[in-house]
Amino acid sequence: MPNAVVVGTQWGDEGKGKVVDLLTARSDMVVRYQGGNNAGHTLVVEGRRTICHLIPSGILHPEKKCLIGNGVVVDPEVLLEEMSTLREGGVPVGPDNLGLSEKAHIILSYHRAMDAAREAAKGAARIGTTGRGIGPAYEDKAGRTGIRAVDLLEPGTLEEKIRSNLEEKNFLLKEFLGAASLEFQPIFDRCVAVGETLKPYITDVSLEIEKAERAGRNVLFEGAQGTHLDIDHGTYPFVTSSNPIAGGASAGAGVGPNHLHHVNGIVKAYTTRVGAGPFTTELTDPVGDYIQERGAEFGATTGRRRRCGWLDLVMVRDSTRLNGLDSLSITKMDVLTGLDSLKICVGYELDGAAVESRPCSLERLARCKPVYEELPGWKEEISSARSLEDLPQATRGYLDRIEEVTGVPIAVISIGPRRDETIVVKDIFA
Ligand code: GDP
Ligand code: IMO
Ligand code: MG
Repeated sequence: MPNAVVVGTQWGDEGKGKVVDLLTARSDMVVRYQGGNNAGHTLVVEGRRTICHLIPSGILHPEKKCLIGNGVVVDPEVLLEEMSTLREGGVPVGPDNLGLSEKAHIILSYHRAMDAAREAAKGAARIGTTGRGIGPAYEDKAGRTGIRAVDLLEPGTLEEKIRSNLEEKNFLLKEFLGAASLEFQPIFDRCVAVGETLKPYITDVSLEIEKAERAGRNVLFEGAQGTHLDIDHGTYPFVTSSNPIAGGASAGAGVGPNHLHHVNGIVKAYTTRVGAGPFTTELTDPVGDYIQERGAEFGATTGRRRRCGWLDLVMVRDSTRLNGLDSLSITKMDVLTGLDSLKICVGYELDGAAVESRPCSLERLARCKPVYEELPGWKEEISSARSLEDLPQATRGYLDRIEEVTGVPIAVISIGPRRDETIVVKDIFA
């Protein structure tokens, strides 16, 4: 069976968790390849809601192996908490079904402190980060001062690295950002303790994938965030600090790009964004409120109200190219029920001329006007539909238009948060 990558095509929270949980039934291994606990991936199975921040969304299938790749930045406190919450809910979690890359970078308290202090210093220009220390941890990785999972097992190396990092962080925190400095000993002691606990899980993820593939198993790669939060291709600087795009799976899991056989892009039926940054199709009217309320659009990590707007297919078309999308999963179609008519953005106009893709310059983007097509809405509740034929004609018309504009076939339609509230149109593993 082929490997597949699941990637967000918008600004995150498209429903990747639900789709990964669904596709895990047909996969042997699930690998998260980037991001950290800025992610919140929600699974609703048998009436229970589980939110995965670091652990792959395949974890509810205990016989499948879940791996956290080298591209992920890991806050060990969050990982341990997530493991124990899952166990309390009756989900077995142990080295048999979970592994952490020895090369994954570790988020420490000074990263969280730097994230908070930087955002505070930016004032109105803040990015609206999740405050989880993600940016500072990736900065250290690129700056070659990061602490990796493997270091947690070597107290000598760990001590040297934390001491030298803390000297610089404390200078910045205190002298430049006006925040409190941090003490070495509690950080070091805690790292040694979590290292002891995590030791059985720390592994060579790239090698594990290779062994699984050699045994005929297939792998599902789980992205976090979304294409337009990508550090290179997103609405920079209002982005995260990693590469959520499908290509990120190669670097972030340790596999050649030819192992990424199929890329499924998750498209929420409308657009949302948490945090600051441009949003061309944003709705700040009662329709936006209707979508926000019906879609329960609150961040799964920070609880912040998500900004809502019409479906922006200029963004999704860019995502098609940036990820090499082979198929789409359209989520939250049920949320649009009840609206008289629906708009989809099929182009941008800048200074009276059509633009081909989202401008890179935020100044130019701010001047872009969305070009909308209006489609009929539907009034029927659609969550009980289990095949395309069960959907109202207008719902099918909306889906058809997405396929036409993007040129990518739809494989999955999600019509509710539950695992079974799904219509599978095409088998992505065929
Ligand atoms: P992710 O970060 O991409 O995994 O998405 P989140 O979990 O942050 O946000 C998606 C939210 O929508 C979660 O609360 C899901 O339970 C919910 N959800 C997913 N698919 C559907 C759907 O088709 N309909 C509805 N109503 N909710 C959905
Ligand atoms: P999932 O995986 C939505 C946003 C933050 C902020 C920006 C930078 O659940 O889709 P960061 O903490 O990463 O430095 O914040 O990115 N952001 C997300 N928005 N879903 C996410 O993850 C996000 N992860 C980060 O709100 O605007
Ligand atoms: Mg989320």
